[in-house]
Amino acid sequence: MSKHPAYDKFLDYVNVNKNAVFLDMGCCFGANVRKAIADGYLAERIIASDIHQEFWVLGHKLFKSGPKTTLPTFVQGDILDPSFISGPQQHTATDPISSVDLKILTNLSTHQTKVAQQLAALLTQTSGSTIFGSHESRPEKGFRTEAPPSSASSPGNGYLGNHMFCHSPSS
Ligand SMILES: C[S@@+](CC[C@H](N)C(=O)[O-])C[C@H]1O[C@@H](n2cnc3c(N)ncnc32)[C@H](O)[C@@H]1O
Repeated sequence: MSKHPAYDKFLDYVNVNKNAVFLDMGCCFGANVRKAIADGYLAERIIASDIHQEFWVLGHKLFKSGPKTTLPTFVQGDILDPSFISGPQQHTATDPISSVDLKILTNLSTHQTKVAQQLAALLTQTSGSTIFGSHESRPEKGFRTEAPPSSASSPGNGYLGNHMFCHSPSS
């Protein structure tokens, strides 16, 4: 996340707007929220969320979190579930969200427009609030053919297999 071109603006925004709320959607082990906290973002103004709570739990082991580690609240949920995406911030801070980091949106193929609209509706109207992120790509835009399809024996929710849509440099 910190290598993303929008990252410096993201930090500038929170320096000016001290109450800015950051949602890390698809946070996995929590590397990005830890980086934002190390760079000065207040943990209580961050919401970490993922469909798999076990990734967040494994993050404690990976990063050796202890009782004294200051971390954001984690909220388990599916970005494709309209009842969840309409209000993950209600689980924690009550303020509107200012920034969303997202590394899964464009891979959600047919759902991406709807998810983008729902996330945009969560954002504060303040100039500078933003959704940013990155995604996997291929030389040619289209579905990833290299991965096995998802099935009953596949890793389960969140595993897109060959249903993962990838943009190309030109798309
Ligand atoms: C490529 S990882 C990104 C991890 C992290 N954001 C980063 O930049 O290192 C994608 C994450 O999205 C999560 N994910 C996949 N589908 C999801 C969904 N429908 N709702 C919420 N999270 C999802 C996965 O569990 C995984 O942790």
